[in-house]
Parts: sequence; structure tokens; C-alpha cells
Amino acid sequence: MARPRILSGMRPTGALHLGHLTGALDNWARLQDSYECYWVIVDWHALTTDYADTSAIRENILEVAVDWLAAGLDPARAALFVQSAVPEHAELHLLLSMVVPVPWLERVPTYKEQQQNIQDKDLSTYGFLGYPLLQTADIIIYKAAAVPVGEDQAPHIELTREIVRRFNNFYGPVFPEPQTLLTPTPRMPGTDGRKMSKSYGNAIYLLDSPETVREKLRPMLTDPARKRRTDPGDPDKCPVFDLHRAFSEPATQEWAAQGCRTAGIGCIECKTKLAEHLLERLGEIHARRPEYASRPDTVWDILREGSRQARETARATMEQVRAAMKIQYP
Ligand code: TRP
Ligand code: SF4
Repeated sequence: MARPRILSGMRPTGALHLGHLTGALDNWARLQDSYECYWVIVDWHALTTDYADTSAIRENILEVAVDWLAAGLDPARAALFVQSAVPEHAELHLLLSMVVPVPWLERVPTYKEQQQNIQDKDLSTYGFLGYPLLQTADIIIYKAAAVPVGEDQAPHIELTREIVRRFNNFYGPVFPEPQTLLTPTPRMPGTDGRKMSKSYGNAIYLLDSPETVREKLRPMLTDPARKRRTDPGDPDKCPVFDLHRAFSEPATQEWAAQGCRTAGIGCIECKTKLAEHLLERLGEIHARRPEYASRPDTVWDILREGSRQARETARATMEQVRAAMKIQYP
């Protein structure tokens, strides 16, 4: 029995951080046991916002790929590839653009929101409006049965299903409707308590050395009510405790919560314990990392081979699409 196929993607943002690990990679690595997996680095999606300066994309693709491999995405069991190496995504995106009404895209919650929030770029482009349409092409060109994503992407998968229904309605049943495999995304604050993000400068990266991790945790924001060592605190108001939830085992979480509420432990102690657990987890990643980080050629080879595999599937689908749309000529 063939395993069901799933696909997910990430923009080439460069080095990945703890948010990527708990919000996506850990889950993706696990799914490789039971699904036929396609993991795509979506460089064209990066262009939808970063079109003016494209100089970092190549290096960012490599950094993402190294972190993927270090985090346990496995080229022996999954296709790890680059979107633009499979140009059929663009062909399908074009054909879908003929079929999908513009208001469907304007309605996507992130569309207006991001246009307003991102002030330093002009996002009134055709490509930015088409972002979710390109994502739809990424998914359905492989006839993925499901897409593992966080809550924030759920509206995009819902839109994908609507587009599939519309397409199939016009041209016959070419595409299955992909399911959303919702990845639980534990809260992952950065060192300043805001959501961990490269752009906030508050991230702990998978490639950070143990010393760097400890240095970043030391000044990390805690429950502001704990001004002195003798003040009791509330773990539910402390971003450090969110990291305990993600990386420490239940006994340590209990120890920290109890010690915090009773002022039995200090924040320094609490962070030291967290660092131990976090570094244990990062240790596996650090162990795997140099093999890839020091050999970019090997990494590009892996991506090229993954792209070749993906392209075979994508080409076969496009044959069917052209036939269904009656634009297949002798
Ligand atoms: N839009 C996704 C994000 O920002 C990235 C993405 C592009 C994606 N194509 C995809 C995710 C296909 C899942 C499936 O995270
Ligand atoms: Fe946060 Fe730990 Fe300090 Fe409590 S003891 S405020 S959980 S760092």
C-alpha cells in the first residue's frame, strides 16, 4: 500500500530558530515515518515580498536546507527540493490564475493585514496578491492528500480546497482536496517576550552554540512581577516558562513552576535548568549539522535530486491538467 502523500513548504529566510523547530520541523520529521513527504523551499514565495533585493536568496536556501537536514528531514525518505527547480509550479499557477476570481484572493485574511503591517515595501503587486494561488499550485501539483501547517496557514489550505472544487467542476476530477494536518504550535516567545522572529532580533537559532544559547537566555525577560529574588512569580506570565514547556520534561516544569510561585528558586537557576534541557535537544541537531554545513555541494546535490524526483510527479500532473483543459496539442 502506497503511503498517503503530504507536502509542506518554508520560505528561504536563512537560519532557522526554535519556533521553526517546535512549530514545524519536529512534526515534519515524525511524519516521515508514515507519509510520502515533499518538503519544499519556496524561493518564489520569498520574491513576493523581497523582490527588490534578491541578493540573499541563494545563501538563505542553503541555510534552510542545512537546518532541515540537521533537524532530521531525511532525503532517503522524503523529497527535499526548491520550488523554482520545478517550473511546472509556475505553469499551474498561471492556469489557476485564469480560473480564480480576484476577490477570492483579496479576501484572504493575511493579504490586507500584511499589506498594512509591512510599511517598507510596496506590496500592491500582482505576485503578492497571487501568493496563496502559488501555494495552491505547490500543493495540488503533487496531489497531496494533506498539508501539515500551523494555524496561521489554515485559511490558505481552505482556499486551496475551494480552488480545487472550482477547477474540478470546470474540467473534471483532476485534483483531490487536500486536508489540513494542523500542527500544534506551542507558544514560542523570543528573549524579549515577543513572538520569536528573525526580524525582532530575539531569536535563538538552531545553529547557536551552547555558549550563545546561555548568553541569550541570561538576560531573557521573565515575569516582571519578580523584581527581587524573594518576590514570588507566575510561570504563566513568564516567557522562560514557555520554553520550559517546549523543552523540559514534566518533572522539571513542575519544579520550575512550584519554585517560581513560592520564590523557592531564582530566575537564574530556572534558566540554567532550561539551558540544560534545551541544549540536550539542540545537541542532536548540532551533532548532525557540520556534516552538511561544511559541505554545501552535498546539500545542493540533495536538493537537486529532490527536485528531480518532485519534477517527475509535477510533470505527470501537468500532462493530466493540459489534457483535462483541452490545451494539449499534437
Ligand atoms: N505560505 C507558507 C508559509 O508562509 C509557505 C508555503 C508555500 C507552503 N507553499 C506552501 C506551506 C505549500 C505549505 C504548503 O509558511
Ligand atoms: Fe520565569 Fe523561572 Fe523566573 Fe519564574 S523562576 S519568573 S518561571 S524564569
